[in-house]
Amino acid sequence: MDIDNVLVIDLFAGPGGLGEGISSAKTELGQYPFKIGVSVEKDPNAHKTLTTRALFRKLKYELKDPSNYYRYLHGEITREQLFEFHPEQAAEAEEETLGAPRELGKDNDLIHSRISQLVSEHSGPKVVIGGPPCQAYSLAGRSRNAGNKEYVAKEDKRHFLYKEYLEVLSIAQPHVFVMENVKGILSAKIDGEIMFPSILEDLREPGKITTHNCDYSYKIYSLVVPSSDTEAPAYKSTKDYLINCEEHGIPQARHRVILLGVRSDINAVPGVLEKANAPVTVRQTIDDLPKLRSGFSKQKDNTTDWETCISENASKVSTILKSLFDESSISEQVLQPYKGLERKKEAPYIEPALMPQHLRDWLYDSNLEKVLNHETRGHMADDLLRYAFCAGYAMAGDGVSPKSREFPKSLAPAHSNWDTGTHADRFRVQVADRYATTVTSHISKDGHYFVHYDPKQCRSLTVREAARLQTFPDNYFFEGNRTSQYVQVGNAVPPLLANKIGKIIFALLSF
Ligand SMILES: C[S@@+](CC[C@H](N)C(=O)[O-])C[C@H]1O[C@@H](n2cnc3c(N)ncnc32)[C@H](O)[C@@H]1O
Repeated sequence: MDIDNVLVIDLFAGPGGLGEGISSAKTELGQYPFKIGVSVEKDPNAHKTLTTRALFRKLKYELKDPSNYYRYLHGEITREQLFEFHPEQAAEAEEETLGAPRELGKDNDLIHSRISQLVSEHSGPKVVIGGPPCQAYSLAGRSRNAGNKEYVAKEDKRHFLYKEYLEVLSIAQPHVFVMENVKGILSAKIDGEIMFPSILEDLREPGKITTHNCDYSYKIYSLVVPSSDTEAPAYKSTKDYLINCEEHGIPQARHRVILLGVRSDINAVPGVLEKANAPVTVRQTIDDLPKLRSGFSKQKDNTTDWETCISENASKVSTILKSLFDESSISEQVLQPYKGLERKKEAPYIEPALMPQHLRDWLYDSNLEKVLNHETRGHMADDLLRYAFCAGYAMAGDGVSPKSREFPKSLAPAHSNWDTGTHADRFRVQVADRYATTVTSHISKDGHYFVHYDPKQCRSLTVREAARLQTFPDNYFFEGNRTSQYVQVGNAVPPLLANKIGKIIFALLSF
């Protein structure tokens, strides 16, 4: 078996975090064994991002000349021109993402026949990756649905999208699969019954419930709790499948279930993810990015008005903080805005200085001349005062974001739930010297959970800052409008984590 050529089938691919990490896994000989054969994604913006990235990989690894990709990033040529300059690689990239957004469950004839073709033409190992969408499992999704009398979990189509995943397992019969999902998959219930054990059963024997035959069964391994069992790995708790990303060098508390399925004929056990020596902080990850000011929504935006507003806020916040903390730790000066900041800056791209080496090696690209996807949004003037308070509170206090009860009455938003405690984290600053909280697609909505720690910039995180916390390389370009870029980033598996998983899979396949 040619282990230097592993076919990757990426389902529910999103912007491609999982695929990016796995396809960048390098062997000790400097080769990249994982080649994405197909990425299936139904969202047009994420699909566009995937296709751009697919072309980049072909230019970099096959043509060995990605210079036009950088010209595109630097605004020297359009995306159309980039694709026109490289017709052969562009056609391959488009084939990789199936020519258009495609939906599992709806476009199955096309998707299945492409996967069957790839598998029949491939003699090396095969890997299926992806996570069926998680809304129905997710804790947030379930609390929303709890208030919806019409909601019946059994009828929620999203619960059953994993069966589409199983169907592809039966068609491809991969040597290994990786299935990612939210923590809520462990406790999701239908008719009062926890679903996770049956999901595991289905994954062990996909052929039992799929319309296609599957000649193999699978062993489902944890990526964090070691097992020496080559036949039927068993774990003490379903939580053993849970990965806490912050323990593995990712600057973010992202807790996700990742299942590693290994085909029954592989007589070896996979390794587990190594723990990092120290957590990576938000400051280490984003501090070197160009400083930007936020803007105003719902009112005309300009730098002078913004600076006036933030200056006035600085003295209000400093008075409030002095009533809460030791006066010596609060100076109005540290809350005063930087002068002359822009909302989008064509600042030169610099090598991150504070970042731990492992992250810098992964993210930094000396070919880049500017920072991508780094522009701020507008906020309501009242919210800017709350952002300044949150950021100042974390600086003056113990690096903790204030709960709603810690806000003075004068800063309380007109929100009926504000005092009930159910929205205690309605505003949350991403504290500088800790790892971030989970970057979710909610960041596309308002940014209140993702306030920058620097009160002088007084804003929520940009797409690039969120992408850094998700460990997307700095040359990863997100297509679509800004809202869609936030959704794409929030949905992804951190590529650096995926890269570590890729190395574990390669070691397993080499055994
Ligand atoms: C959680 S995201 C996947 C993230 C991805 N694994 C990564 O690492 O970037 C799930 C994706 O599935 C896509 N999706 C949902 N239902 C789909 C379907 N039936 N067919 C194809 N894609 C689908 C969504 O648009 C979303 O982008």
